[in-house]
Amino acid sequence: MYILLMGPPGAGKGTQAERLIEKYGIPQISTGDMFRAAVKEQTPLGLEAKKYMDNGQLVPDAVTVGIVKERLAKDDCKKGFILDGFPRTTSQAVSLDAILRDLGIKLDGVINIAVPDEELIKRTTGRQICRSCGATYHVTFKPSKVKNVCDKCGGELYQRDDDKVETVKKRLSVYAAQTKPLIDYYKNSNLYIEIDGKQSMEDVYKDIVASLEKSK
Ligand code: AP5
Ligand code: MG
Ligand code: ZN
Repeated sequence: MYILLMGPPGAGKGTQAERLIEKYGIPQISTGDMFRAAVKEQTPLGLEAKKYMDNGQLVPDAVTVGIVKERLAKDDCKKGFILDGFPRTTSQAVSLDAILRDLGIKLDGVINIAVPDEELIKRTTGRQICRSCGATYHVTFKPSKVKNVCDKCGGELYQRDDDKVETVKKRLSVYAAQTKPLIDYYKNSNLYIEIDGKQSMEDVYKDIVASLEKSK
């Protein structure tokens, strides 16, 4: 199963990918997670990406396409993958088409999780992430059992640097200007599936799986 998971910042891409990778036994490829790992390790890629991420801007296409191309060529992608947060510009989508053509891969679905802005601000500003295992929580919508401690591994929970309200607003405007136009790019194919992301995490998951199964 080859899936693109699209949606604005905080829509629930990571939350849904966490479950879909288990159901389908395929890797999640999140450019945001890859950049955050590089920032943590202070690699040249991380230092470059951080300049953009801290301001809520997109990392330049050439850098982003390069890391995705390298990642998709790995063996674990042969049976499928979930691309989370890539492509995010029309130029990235055009590059992805070429990468997939070279690899002989056809997408099974392009899923767009649609959520209104005021809800996205609540979701991002209340998000917490485990420093050790990367699990995602929310102070109100998905609280950990013990405050600031991961249920799964006991790790410490932290807030992403770009989840401060001012940076979130910037990310939302960058999304509207640069990523939203991609919806039309994919609407022209018969792969596009829009999911009502205002629902509970469980109902969003059920809708995604139902539409993927139907499109098989
Ligand atoms: P990235 O990490 O991809 O951030 P994003 O797209 O802004 O999306 P998020 O990860 O913030 O949200 P999500 O949709 O995964 O939501 P989640 O499931 O966590 O990118 C970060 C940065 O990296 C970018 O700004 C850019 O600089 C750079 N970058 C990345 N990709 C790039 C690219 N292709 N090109 C250029 N630059 C790139 O959920 C959010 C919260 O809501 C959680 O707390 C969760 O518990 C809660 N929640 C989830 N679903 C529900 C629900 N149904 N009801 C209630 N709460 C919910
Ligand atoms: Mg995410
Ligand atoms: Zn953890």
